[in-house]
Amino acid sequence: MQFKFQVLWKTMHMIYLALLIPLDALISNKQSSCSLHGLIRGENMELGVKYVVELARALGSMPGVYRELGESTGAYIVRIPFGPKDKYVPKELLWPHIPEFVDGALNHIIQLSKALGEQIGGGEPVWPVAIHGHYADAGDSAALLSGALNIPMLFTGHSLGRDKLEQLLKQGRQSREEINTTYKIMRRIEAEELSLDASEIVITSTRQEIDSQWCLYDGFDPILERKLRARIKRGVSCHGRFMPRTVVIPPGMEFHHIIPPADGDADGEGERNDDGTANPDLPIWSEIMRFFTNPRKPMILALARADPKKNITTLVKAFGECRPLRDLSNLALIMGNRDDIDEMSSTNASVLLSILKLIDRYDLYGHVAYPKHHKQSDVPDIYRLAAKTKEKW
Ligand SMILES: *[C@@H]1O[C@H](CO)[C@@H](O)[C@H](O)[C@H]1NC(C)=O
Ligand SMILES: *[C@@H]1O[C@H](CO)[C@@H](O)[C@H](O)[C@H]1NC(C)=O
Ligand SMILES: *[C@@H]1O[C@H](CO)[C@@H](O)[C@H](O)[C@H]1NC(C)=O
Repeated sequence: MQFKFQVLWKTMHMIYLALLIPLDALISNKQSSCSLHGLIRGENMELGVKYVVELARALGSMPGVYRELGESTGAYIVRIPFGPKDKYVPKELLWPHIPEFVDGALNHIIQLSKALGEQIGGGEPVWPVAIHGHYADAGDSAALLSGALNIPMLFTGHSLGRDKLEQLLKQGRQSREEINTTYKIMRRIEAEELSLDASEIVITSTRQEIDSQWCLYDGFDPILERKLRARIKRGVSCHGRFMPRTVVIPPGMEFHHIIPPADGDADGEGERNDDGTANPDLPIWSEIMRFFTNPRKPMILALARADPKKNITTLVKAFGECRPLRDLSNLALIMGNRDDIDEMSSTNASVLLSILKLIDRYDLYGHVAYPKHHKQSDVPDIYRLAAKTKEKW
């Protein structure tokens, strides 16, 4: 079966369960995806869910996707009801409901396989090629479905429970038992171990995730994985040992909303429209630029929540301590929206206060921007601004 997994995976961030279903090994495929985490609203989508819709669109636009006559797309999102009705259940509390989801999904897949078989399989059910689970809960589900359907499984972990547990213990604010109560972390780790054991391939976004995070798991040993991979390549027996293969695919981006700079932007003479008039700066540009004494320097851009694990403080420290970097560039920190630091949650506020203190310690006034507000729709323009300052340099 020919399948351009790589193309799909780049777009599949935060998709919790995707099924890839073959139609005809050579001509067409039908794909459908199921999401464990609901809340799809179309306009103004929850961020996590936006990716599910983007994935469905990306799948639907792929040449190999089967299209039923009269329907606009061959990829779509299926909602499988499970758990309490009319009540939002946070992801930490989904665990007892997973078997119900798996039953529903299994039922759906079997129905779909039969229906497809009647349409294009000559009466024989058309079975899925593989099942891909994203995040621990869908990994748990995918492992069960992979066994029930006898199809290979792939897994993308996103954030990993063992690493999260270590980070939280290091912070020292909660005991192991308290962390387990808040995050149901032991159940999540168990799901990840099961996913590892059931998966042929594990998708990661960085080498660090393999070498420092997956290696914390009983079911994964990077050294053994490398050895086994080499043996398989040479066609030598692995003596029954198995380790899922890991593949690094860096996160992609949906470029649909990004307007590339027009020709002539790079001439360093300022932007001109077709009619020769100067292009007025966008409000978000002046919002950032007003911080800089020399706005013409290239910009280092960090777009992240004011969350300790995003580690923006280390970035500011590095910038502050490196004289040549300070001389050559500006630093822009886009850290979400705030009105009053005293009204922020204590964790976010403490991140912000340490950043402000570092700016003061290294005397970075005029070199660092930290605007108070930006809109989701400003993000492409923020990237464009960073690109513009680089070209002018
Ligand atoms: C973690 O919490 C679960 C219940 O939520 C409990 O069954 C389990 O024993 C706990 N594990 C540890 C190591 O505390
Ligand atoms: C503050 O923290 C919460 C929870 O971590 C997060 O959802 C929110 O986006 C943060 N606010 C800012 C301004 O980064
Ligand atoms: C931030 O980065 C530094 C340097 O890489 C590291 O030592 C530190 O542990 C990181 N902190 C967090 C919270 O990830």
